[in-house]
Formats: sequence, structure tokens, C-alpha cells
Amino acid sequence: MTLRSTPLSPGARILGVGAYEPSRVVTNEDLLARLDSSDEWIRQRTGIVERRWATPDETVTVMAAEASRRALAHAGLDAGAVDAIVVSTVTRFVQWPAIASRVAAALGIPSVAAFDLSAGCAGFCYALAQADALVRAGTAGHVLVIAADRLSDMTDLADRSTAFLFGDGAGAVVVGPSAQPGIGPVTWGGDADQADTITQTQEWTDALASGTMPYIVMAGQKVFKWAMTEITDVTRRAIEAAGLTPADIDLFVPHQANDRITDALLRYLKLPESVVVSRNIRRLGNTSASSIPLGIARLYADGLVRPDAACLMVGFGAGLVYAGQVALLPAGAPGTVPGPVNPPIPPNPLNP
Ligand SMILES: CC(C)(COP(=O)(O)OP(=O)(O)OC[C@H]1O[C@@H](n2cnc3c(N)ncnc32)[C@H](O)[C@@H]1OP(=O)(O)O)[C@@H](O)C(=O)NCCC(=O)NCCS
Repeated sequence: MTLRSTPLSPGARILGVGAYEPSRVVTNEDLLARLDSSDEWIRQRTGIVERRWATPDETVTVMAAEASRRALAHAGLDAGAVDAIVVSTVTRFVQWPAIASRVAAALGIPSVAAFDLSAGCAGFCYALAQADALVRAGTAGHVLVIAADRLSDMTDLADRSTAFLFGDGAGAVVVGPSAQPGIGPVTWGGDADQADTITQTQEWTDALASGTMPYIVMAGQKVFKWAMTEITDVTRRAIEAAGLTPADIDLFVPHQANDRITDALLRYLKLPESVVVSRNIRRLGNTSASSIPLGIARLYADGLVRPDAACLMVGFGAGLVYAGQVALLPAGAPGTVPGPVNPPIPPNPLNP
């Protein structure tokens, strides 16, 4: 017996980008009331000048839905064109339903396929790879890929190794069929022996008993060293997998974990001077998987994305897991530039 399969699409590509940045800006100085640190240390060691924390009303679902609306507007599509929604998040405080189902309801499209994915700060690149495969396989026409997190809820504000790092936000892209491949093969993997390098202080069941949140705990130096060694090679392989060379790359949007990790990746990859590099960590901190779509949206807002720009992305984090790929970006239509109008990226003389 031979079963029928779905008609394949020759390619998939990103059709629209959207972002949601929470309204509340939190500076390094704001953290010092509870944290034994300094603005200078935080800037020098990470590049972070400020981050944004969600208000109680800015839930993961609210931020995800708003980023999605902006991505759909950018793509020129109605929500009804979406066949599947995948949300990458590590801060879902409700076990079921999936955040993706809540987003579907918020967008007025309750009948779509919807699921969440947990791959730490690599989650956006993981989800993008799923969307690419779903569209090329003919399983879905248009897929909403969302990354959304409220890391401020899970950050111990007195922990010197994490309190200053994290922020909240959401980013989304719409992926749809195209005549040519517009999303390169994903280079992904992990190191499960380091699963406890980024984890939480306790399980939710213990949190219930103790009445305290499970906070993020991280062996920062271990993550830093792993990123410097492993992720450099992953990023190079993502370029090669797309059949490109560093000279073909227009934009580089690595996970915004630390400006010094971005510097190391740049030194290793020898990307041309002309490549626009995301430094969004300075204004938003580490927003987990959202940092890549938020970074891309920021480049649009700054007018730095030309049509068909080749954008190199690499995400890495809890697991430890990583994923990277190159994707071509759509033109930004006037009036539909994704994301709110934001202040420019603060200069960082302490970590130029
Ligand atoms: C967290 C991180 C910024 C810490 O930076 P670091 O350079 O490794 O800092 P260290 O822990 O080695 O500490 C260096 C010094 O700063 C001090 N220090 C540590 N935290 C401090 C803080 N918050 N404020 C001021 N000083 C601090 C330490 O006591 C130490 O002092 P000493 O040299 O006198 O002993 C860095 O390890 C990092 O970014 N790691 C990657 C994290 C990451 O990307 N995580 C998410 C992945 S998705």
C-alpha cells in the first residue's frame, strides 16, 4: 500500500517580523538597591545598559500575540492565513494549554495547529527550523514562529551571577512558502552532559511547598567558555550549510547573551566589516529565545535591513543546546515596520 503525501514546496521563507518590548525600562542603577554590583561592572562584563521588565498585564501570551500581529501586518497577511503556531518559551506558568493555543485564541484563529517548544535561548532557531520543515513538506502553508518570555519572574534579584542579565519580551516571524529556499539548513545539537549548567533552584512541586519561585541558576563562566568554543564552530557551519561564505552575510544576530560572546564570535568568523551586528543586549538584556527576533526587529526599526538581506542567526542556552541558520529577510514596508518606536541603542563606552 502506498500512502499519499503532501505536495512539497520548493522553499520556505520569512515573510514578516514583529516584536513586543515591555513598557517598563529598568536600568542597572535600578538594580543596585538589592544587588551588590555596579553599573560599570555590568556594562563592562556584559554590555547591558538597561533591560525591560513586563508589567503584570504584559503576560507571555499578551506579548506573544502582539508580536504576532505586528509580524502578520509586516507580511501583509490576515491571521486567518496561519495554519500553525509554535511558541518557544521557558517561562510558561500554566502547564496546559500551550501558550500557542492562547495566542491562537487571542488572534481569533482557534482552529490552527498550536504547540509550545522548550529549547532555552536556542528556542527561536529551533522553532524556525520546524516551521521551515513544515512549510517545505507541505504540512502547513503559513506558520507563526514566536519566542516569548518573562525571565524577570524567575530571576533572583539578589543573585550576583544572574540578576543583571535577564529581561522580558517577545518576537515573532511569519514563515510561508516560496519558489526558492529562503531559510538555510539548521545546524543544531547540544551537550546534555552540561544540562545542569543552566537550571532552576527547585522544581515547581518543591516551589509550591516552599512558597518561593524557582529561580534561574547558572554557572556563568562555564556557559561563557562553551559559547566561545562550541558556538563559534556552529555558526561557521550554519553559513556553510546554506552554501554561503562569510562575505555573503549582511546581518549577524546572535543570541544576546553577552556582548563579549558576540565579540568573540566576530573575531572567529571574520565577517566583513560591512556586516550589521545586533547589539540589542545593551537595551534589552538577555531575553532568552526572544533575543533573536527582537534583535532583527530592532534592525528594521533602525532602517538597516535591505530586501533579501542574508541574516545569520545562532541561539544557545539551557540544555545545553544550540541552533543556527541563515535566513533571507523581507523588505520592510513603510508604516508596518515591526515593533514600537524605541530609543536608540545606548552607547556603551565601557564595552565599545
Ligand atoms: C555572568 C557573567 C557576566 C559573569 O562574568 P564573569 O566575567 O564570568 O565574572 P566572574 O564570575 O568570573 O567574576 C569576576 C569578578 O567579578 C565579581 N563579580 C561577580 N558578579 C558580580 C556582580 N554582579 N557585580 C560585581 N562584581 C561581580 C566576582 O566576585 C569576581 O571578582 P574577583 O575577580 O575579585 O574574584 C559571565 O560569566 C557570562 O555572561 N556568562 C554567560 C552567561 C550566559 O550567557 N548565560 C545565558 C546563556 S543563554
